[in-house]
Amino acid sequence: MLYSVILLLHNALRWLVLGSLLGVLVSAYSGLLRRRPYTPTDQTLRIVATSIAHTQLLLGIYLYTISPIIRYYWQTKPSFGQAPELSFFALIHLSLMLTAVVLLTIGSSKAKRQTSAPDQFRTTAIYFTIGLVLILAAIPWPFSPLAARPWVRLLN
Ligand code: HEM
Repeated sequence: MLYSVILLLHNALRWLVLGSLLGVLVSAYSGLLRRRPYTPTDQTLRIVATSIAHTQLLLGIYLYTISPIIRYYWQTKPSFGQAPELSFFALIHLSLMLTAVVLLTIGSSKAKRQTSAPDQFRTTAIYFTIGLVLILAAIPWPFSPLAARPWVRLLN
């Protein structure tokens, strides 16, 4: 029961992660192109997106410890070819998502410390673009040949 709730939350929160990252990127690229000042709105967007990503990270780490498929993976340690879906979640999803969230965190704190608006927009644009690409690559989309999961999950 707890597992189904966490899985549902982790599924749903992905949309907030993606939406907030998109918001940050629109602000960063528009700021760079229009050469405007770095406003409190840019700052808030960046902090909110990073916090949502951190929440998803915590949910993911918790999910990792309670997921039956992860437990089964570490009990049997199959090769990638033997169990692509299990290996995807146990190794690829974990490492790409961790890397992405670390990049968002570094980018966000670097931008916070910088003093010129172009530097802040550039740093945010670079780190958050790479973070978003990694996250998009590591999401188990319904059309993924490795691990297909639903767009939206309902409790059953
Ligand atoms: C921004 C980061 C992340 C996003 C957007 C994300 C997204 C997702 C999505 C959409 C699913 C499919 C859920 C479903 O089947 O309905 C999933 C599954 C999963 N995620 Fe993440 N995830 C992220 C980070 C993490 C991290 C850092 C970990 C582990 C430390 C993790 C562990 C898992 C596990 C174990 C599953 C599969 C659980 C199972 O089926 O039993 N996720 N993730």
